[in-house]
Amino acid sequence: MLNVHKIWLFSCLCVVVIVVLYFQAEIARLEDKYNKLEYKFAQIHSEPRQFFPKAIERVEDDLVVIYNRVPKTGSTSFVGVAYDLCKKNHFKVLHINITANMHVMSLSNQYKFAQNVTRWNDVKPALYHGHMAFLNFERLGTNSRPIFINLIRKPLDRLVSYYYFLRNGDNFRPHLVRKKHGDKMTFDECVEKSQPDCDPNNMWLQVPFFCGHSSQCWKPGSHWALQQAKQNLVNHYLVVGVTEEMQDFISVLEAALPRFFKGATEHYLNSNKSHLRQTSSKLEPNQDTIDRIQQSNVWKMENELYEFALEHFKFVKKRLLSKEPNGVAQIYFYEKIRPK
Ligand SMILES: *[C@@H]1O[C@H](CO)[C@@H](O)[C@H](O)[C@H]1NC(C)=O
Ligand SMILES: *[C@@H]1O[C@H](CO)[C@@H](O)[C@H](O)[C@H]1NC(C)=O
Ligand SMILES: *[C@@H]1O[C@H](CO)[C@@H](O)[C@H](O)[C@H]1NC(C)=O
Repeated sequence: MLNVHKIWLFSCLCVVVIVVLYFQAEIARLEDKYNKLEYKFAQIHSEPRQFFPKAIERVEDDLVVIYNRVPKTGSTSFVGVAYDLCKKNHFKVLHINITANMHVMSLSNQYKFAQNVTRWNDVKPALYHGHMAFLNFERLGTNSRPIFINLIRKPLDRLVSYYYFLRNGDNFRPHLVRKKHGDKMTFDECVEKSQPDCDPNNMWLQVPFFCGHSSQCWKPGSHWALQQAKQNLVNHYLVVGVTEEMQDFISVLEAALPRFFKGATEHYLNSNKSHLRQTSSKLEPNQDTIDRIQQSNVWKMENELYEFALEHFKFVKKRLLSKEPNGVAQIYFYEKIRPK
């Protein structure tokens, strides 16, 4: 009878031990699961916390600016400022060298260039510059679009500068022998003799640079091209300055894009960038020459674009640089943010 009692007690003890061991194992398993979940949860929640400031930084650090510089508009001085600032302001400057200085890219190069510029993160933020016509990135299916900037100059001044530049070079690379070196004909004589180098059709350059990569853009005197150039100038460029007001252009850029141009105005004033590159032995054309050129259709249309750009630039500049009558600069902020 006693033995039966002992066996019964022993069996009970065994059952209790088994049950305890089972629950202990189960608790350990659940604890492990819980830890894993907690870890995942922490990961998920820590991401958005870092994500927000990162996102703001990333927008600026993803910045791509394209300066499709028109020849003889003071672009070398401006690019010099960017090269001087790039180290301090932590961005890269890249020159786009296109075979034989062609201003229009082949279709395959347009596509490759657009994909490369928007995806090449190692060099971002970056300023690309080169003598190429405006390129519409919308057409090329890229995920992001760069910011375009440019400078425009009075068309006759630009033509005269280019004319003497080809003959005499400039003080930037004085020993480089230019295409028309040795030709002593003045611009006035050239116009009088109706030579091809001073043909007003050669002024058809700023319109096509702003118009872009289509055939019509490069037809001297095309009204469609002029309209397209104006549309692109206001719709696709962040800012277009004029050579005659270079300092203001730099100040506007400093205000609008400090990520790149912080300190640019002061640098421009204190370095000799304001007169870095000057065409050698340039003669101002006489009044007869000016009158003759100004009668041409191409001059009229190029000048219309210049005046259009100048008015727009002044408008932008006024809003940006001038202060309100009480001396405060324009600000904006958000309020009435709902729901709370
Ligand atoms: C572009 O590259 C060619 C070939 O390497 C070179 O001769 C030329 O000087 C370059 N252009 C500029 C403006 O540096
Ligand atoms: C862009 O082009 C450069 C020069 O060819 C190359 O080194 C770079 O890897 C390219 N980047 C991308 C993202 O394609
Ligand atoms: C700028 O040029 C002027 C006169 O040509 C010279 O006196 C001055 O030292 C130059 N400044 C710099 C920063 O090179």
